[in-house]
Amino acid sequence: MRSLKKYCILLSELWLCVLLLLTGCGGTKKAEDKKSIRIGVSLYRGDDTFLNNIRGELEQCAKDFEQTKGVKVVLDIQDAKGNQNTQNDQIERFIALGCDVLCINPVDRTAASVIIDKAMAAQTPVIFFNRQPVEEDMDRWDRIYYVGAVARESAVLQGSIVVDCYRESPERLDLNDDGVVSYVLLEGESSHQDSLIRTEWSVQTLKDGGVPIEKLTGGIANWERSQASALMEQWLEKYPGRIELVICNNDDMALGAIDAMERAGAEGISVVGIDGTTPGLAAVENGKLMGTVSIDKAQYAGAILAIAAGEASGWESEPELELEEGKYYQCPWQIVVKN
Ligand code: GAL
Repeated sequence: MRSLKKYCILLSELWLCVLLLLTGCGGTKKAEDKKSIRIGVSLYRGDDTFLNNIRGELEQCAKDFEQTKGVKVVLDIQDAKGNQNTQNDQIERFIALGCDVLCINPVDRTAASVIIDKAMAAQTPVIFFNRQPVEEDMDRWDRIYYVGAVARESAVLQGSIVVDCYRESPERLDLNDDGVVSYVLLEGESSHQDSLIRTEWSVQTLKDGGVPIEKLTGGIANWERSQASALMEQWLEKYPGRIELVICNNDDMALGAIDAMERAGAEGISVVGIDGTTPGLAAVENGKLMGTVSIDKAQYAGAILAIAAGEASGWESEPELELEEGKYYQCPWQIVVKN
């Protein structure tokens, strides 16, 4: 009796699989002859400098793709303005409009399951980027992808900018010559995977590299230039003449710290960032920012578009890039300092 029941369950499961294959559900990638691709993009915040850089490259990549492949790319880019409900509504609209693919920079990366539910119900693949959903969510469907850059790698490189500088000329960092480099630390959003990891590994790299360090203070400025500027202003008043280094989880906060230093007339303090945004790279060039760690934004956006195009066409041609575990693409970082 028991084995008969088991046999029946097995048979019904088998039928379900056949049915899913026939209807093209269950993640089966069906080839289609597409003349145009509609991509719905939602940014967690449209005023984020780094994401604005990515957005610009994405638009450029879409134009290049149209020219080289002769396939029209319709990019519908929306700003979720830091609100997960707004983003969920945008996703519903994208699906209603018949988008082939969703490219989502989630507001709350731990709430990706809601987005995935909607996408799976509509059989619309999703490429998350920059704010990484938890593994459990990423593993729910074989048409979910993530494009980003490894946080630890960026932090180790950021730390090594400081280590190299200290080894070459310690007096550039140890301004008061007391044998210790006193630093403050500006952190991104506490819920973001990059903040904690970057903070931990930047500091660890300084320790591993033999830089004698002392932390004066630190604070969360949520990736924002103005918040970082306000914090730095307070710290400059609280620790007059003592801050020698400002370690920042991103370039915008580094620029905020520099704004406050300029207002206070504080000189000689070294500041390091991460991202390689347009204003960040300009600040390295003009000597205000000691260095940053940058990714190739065109490569980053190109990866998003390649996956989107691959999914939209049913993977007719070989994927142009290699994905870790079939779903992750991590863009490599590189150090940018003034020569
Ligand atoms: C980080 C980046 C920040 C900010 C944030 C938004 O990776 O360094 O500047 O853009 O993502 O999620």
